[in-house]
Amino acid sequence: PASTTRLAHGGLAVAGVDLAEVAERFATPVYVLDEGEVRERCRTYRAAFPEAEILYAAKAFLSRAMARWVQEEGLGLDVCSAGELELAVVAGFPPDRIVLHGNAKSPRDLDAALRLGVGRIVIDSPSEIARIAAAVGPDGRQKVMVRVVPGVTAGGHHKIRTGTDGQKFGLSLSDGSALHAVTRVLAQRRLELTGLHCHIGSQITEVKPYVTALRRMVGLMARIRDAHGRVLPELDLGGGHGIAYRPGEAALDITALARKLRGELVEACAAAGLPVPRLAVEPGRAVVGPAGVAVYRVLAVKHTGDTLFAAVDGGMSDNPRPALYGVRYAPRLIGRASTAAARTATVVGRHCEAGDVLAAGVELPGDVRPGDLIAVPVAGAYHLSMASGYNMVGRPPVVAVDQGTARLLVRRETLEDLRLRDLGG
Ligand code: LLP
Repeated sequence: PASTTRLAHGGLAVAGVDLAEVAERFATPVYVLDEGEVRERCRTYRAAFPEAEILYAAKAFLSRAMARWVQEEGLGLDVCSAGELELAVVAGFPPDRIVLHGNAKSPRDLDAALRLGVGRIVIDSPSEIARIAAAVGPDGRQKVMVRVVPGVTAGGHHKIRTGTDGQKFGLSLSDGSALHAVTRVLAQRRLELTGLHCHIGSQITEVKPYVTALRRMVGLMARIRDAHGRVLPELDLGGGHGIAYRPGEAALDITALARKLRGELVEACAAAGLPVPRLAVEPGRAVVGPAGVAVYRVLAVKHTGDTLFAAVDGGMSDNPRPALYGVRYAPRLIGRASTAAARTATVVGRHCEAGDVLAAGVELPGDVRPGDLIAVPVAGAYHLSMASGYNMVGRPPVVAVDQGTARLLVRRETLEDLRLRDLGG
């Protein structure tokens, strides 16, 4: 994060808080979140997209404090379950600024959305249309959008590419299912179609795929106008804005993206004779990823062949991303100064499988030893939210740091928590 400072004794501070002190006070593993950095990133979005709606994708990380921060910074929220939705509303998030997503919305998700009054529900399949209309009831009217697959290949890994046909999300533009769904939505009195949505993938570092998607979406809007005489006021281009996980890696330039999209939108709409719709974007990772650091303690060190293994007290249960997507992180030793020569090392977790590797082939001081602290930067997005119960180690807490102080946002999952769920029957 921007507010990271190296301390004289080899330590690392975030927002004026020494990570070694956080580790002492809250124990390890622990996720540390820089509140100022989250807010700053929200402001960057607001400044880059002054006219657009910015919906933070809660799946990246959600807590009540996080919901408050993004609300205070003027963002809306994208949720994909009753769980996310209800937590946000409990935190005081205005429901009309929340959008519900999901390719398989449960009755509970829909109930919560309608009961709490979410701003929009994004329709992802034809079978949802009648189902949502029925749930709305005879006197109600729910704003909806239709999720379109524009046929764009983008995204950091095949598991997080959602812009092409042949994956589970959305309605195809190319085979006509998107237009067909729009036609059916328009025929439902209880549904008000406000616009189209697409989300082409995640960890995208270039502007170009977004431009291609935008042009195709405007093309579809023109076809809808021609077929139905309806001009849709909103266009949501989803999230997926890529960040750098290691120094020197490319990140998507948000300001450049915003400028380009605005220009292209105005141009494409002029060419199609359409008024310019209100743009929406749904960044998750780019808001919170770089604001988080995971801190671990080394439990064991081993030299096997040419490899130095440093085994820490967390692993794939609190960060499945290296195992799932082959993501590479840049862990570093913190908490003490070392003059030892750097060695190529592999940071592994404590879980019972060989694939539990947090970072392979990284440089660590050759004298790394049990008791040392290891920080893994860029751990704010899709870490806690994807943490599992594997090996019953309990999920780590989240500590917010801001202006020299640390406070607990989410407590550690204790062994007692885990035991209490087991009824013994
Ligand atoms: N909008 C929709 C409809 C989405 O499905 C997603 C992410 C986003 C927005 C936000 O995408 P972001 O800006 O955070 O890239 N677990 C994976 C990422 C999966 C993303 C799923 N959808 C990872 O750890 O990389």
